[in-house]
Amino acid sequence: MIKTIRIENVAQHVGEEVRIQGWLYNRTDKGKLQFLQVRDGSGFVQCVVFKKEVPEEVFEAARRLTQESSLVVTGVVRQDDRAPGVPGGYEIGVTGLEVIQLAQDYPIQPKEHGVDFLMDHRHLWIRSRRQWAVLRVRATVIRAIRDWLDDHGFINMDTPILTPAACEGTTTLFETDYFGEPAYLTQSGQLYNEANIYAFGRVYCFGPTFRAEKSKTRRHLTEFWMVEPEIAFCDLDQLMEIEEQFVSYIVQRCLKERSAELALLGRDTSLLEKVEPPFPRISYDEALEILAEVREQTEDPQLKELLKIEWGEDFGSPHETELTKRFDKPVFVYGYPTIAKAFYMEPWPGRPEITKSVDLLAPEGYGEITGGSERISDPDLLLKRLEEWNLPREAFEWYIDLRKYGSVPHSGFGLGVERTVTWICGLNHLRETIPFPRMLKRVYP
Ligand code: 4AD
Ligand code: MG
Repeated sequence: MIKTIRIENVAQHVGEEVRIQGWLYNRTDKGKLQFLQVRDGSGFVQCVVFKKEVPEEVFEAARRLTQESSLVVTGVVRQDDRAPGVPGGYEIGVTGLEVIQLAQDYPIQPKEHGVDFLMDHRHLWIRSRRQWAVLRVRATVIRAIRDWLDDHGFINMDTPILTPAACEGTTTLFETDYFGEPAYLTQSGQLYNEANIYAFGRVYCFGPTFRAEKSKTRRHLTEFWMVEPEIAFCDLDQLMEIEEQFVSYIVQRCLKERSAELALLGRDTSLLEKVEPPFPRISYDEALEILAEVREQTEDPQLKELLKIEWGEDFGSPHETELTKRFDKPVFVYGYPTIAKAFYMEPWPGRPEITKSVDLLAPEGYGEITGGSERISDPDLLLKRLEEWNLPREAFEWYIDLRKYGSVPHSGFGLGVERTVTWICGLNHLRETIPFPRMLKRVYP
């Protein structure tokens, strides 16, 4: 009986004859030798077909194989330090080959294609080696997120996708028709989590969130995945401690479990290895001073212009990129101006013009990966803010209730999965970190 195995386990079968079910990734014709790069979803392995060792029809079938044809290969696993593939060092000496379907004119060739072409063929592009590696890192990031939270007393609470009101500003709402009434795709599960903590203490929601982002940047999707932990009896300092433990765990887990994928992506992992608590902390005011200094010192007029910022404005990508260059670890920026952030943030004691808010910026220019804050716990202040922000009180009655029945100081944050994966993989655009990205100009495929 020949065992069917997955490529990721080849190392456990050296010397055995095995069966692999997969697809042809690439083929090199060397006359009497056919080198087949086969992938099965769990990895890539080179299968060598030697004319003298297989029946004539097997050799001919191998020679006719086209890219992405589906197949079943049988052969003997050999250890060979020169053999390419993930995991490296093993190849298959082919004894048999069954072609399931011969693919015709696969559109993505092993050469350079333009990004638009690849995005139009995203349903096929995900098969290629780099995309495969990125999406496997994503899966590990998600697993690490859940493991850390589940192991630290957080309870997973699913929050609604259809919501009656905005959480993160009314300009990026996607409106839907809810039986004749407007409803909006969720921007964040946070407000519901603030209810959930009064039942469970520490909770998180994890799901897709939606923002009608009209700008085309490398950091924005219109549909992205966010995990949002929320904690009762937690202030801003305690929140930062939780965040640095959490983010460090995610990074270290990827280094441990996805080193082959990160190597395939050419990621320099030396900086990721340094991601351990504590992370540096600077205030918004200090961040502005750093930016002013950079503007003063730079000879580049374009950068000077890009880094212009007035007190009270939130940072854009260029500011964040510049700030992270000063640190070799993720850096916390806390104390953002009240006018720059959301309505629910607790004011800084004695300085009502700033909030007890914090963003975590990833190093190497990647910028914001988490945003969070302490929340307003006083009912009167909350009412005042809703008014100032022009938010309809009717839609928030339930949220105001939370401040009447045992209100406590509490805090939480949201971490964007795609931004995190972009940083860990060292990519320059987040579109490759989700199987089917949704962006300003893209809802296909
Ligand atoms: O900073 P944001 O808007 O914070 C919130 O939504 C809070 N309600 C979270 C909370 O406190 N529970 O978003 C949080 C994170 C950002 O740091 C970023 O990583 C990601 O979500 N994010 C996006 N990712 C991709 N595309 C977008 N358009 C994103 N907008 C935010
Ligand atoms: Mg933010």
